[in-house]
Amino acid sequence: MKVTHRPRLAVLLSGDGSNLQALINATNNGLIKADIVIVISNKVGARGLQRAQNAGIKNTVIDNLQFSDRKSFDYALALELKKQDLDLIILAGFMRILTSEFVESFTGRILNIHPSLLPKYRGLNTYQKAIDAGDKNAGATVHFVTSELDGGPPIIQSKVPIHRNDTSDDLAQRILKLEHQIYPLAVKWFCEDRLSLINEEAFLDSSVLPKSGLNYTDTIKDE
Ligand code: GRF
Repeated sequence: MKVTHRPRLAVLLSGDGSNLQALINATNNGLIKADIVIVISNKVGARGLQRAQNAGIKNTVIDNLQFSDRKSFDYALALELKKQDLDLIILAGFMRILTSEFVESFTGRILNIHPSLLPKYRGLNTYQKAIDAGDKNAGATVHFVTSELDGGPPIIQSKVPIHRNDTSDDLAQRILKLEHQIYPLAVKWFCEDRLSLINEEAFLDSSVLPKSGLNYTDTIKDE
């Protein structure tokens, strides 16, 4: 993205929207110099819609249950997004698998946050998978979205310890707090034109990022 204007962002979600809230806060306090111009939920009544409303952000529902297949839902979604002249689409708890047609029509302009230390544990139930495997750590990863589910190149990861007797809810809460740190940071980099996807690799300031992304604890020392 070449920044010649204030970047325009869309956030897609299905649920609580605590990551949306972190992004709203980061645009309000000037960390992210961009505007969230639309929030779209595929679920009627998602709490994230109310958060958008409270922040004065246009918000709408495109209910996937009203569509006969994935392709027609994604088509309607893309149509709405294309009206907004967007620089970046941010998936924040958007519980839908996107078609490759959708992803390819916004190549390099979609980010996602996934609650695992990718490449470990794509898909659902990541917390329980990490606990069952006896891992010492779990975490979250912000990554570019490609047509491979949770398989796009990682940008930044945050790690938390797994304590003995942790339930998956304990772990989810611990990880979520750090999601609220790393997602705004990645979006900030993108909006400053520092982050890009080139040939399925993530670059920050013209350097290719490590396969699992930057480590958040190393990053905060430098930011
Ligand atoms: C987060 O755990 C995120 O990693 C996952 O969905 C959850 C969304 O939480 N993709 P919230 O709706 O932002 O609170």
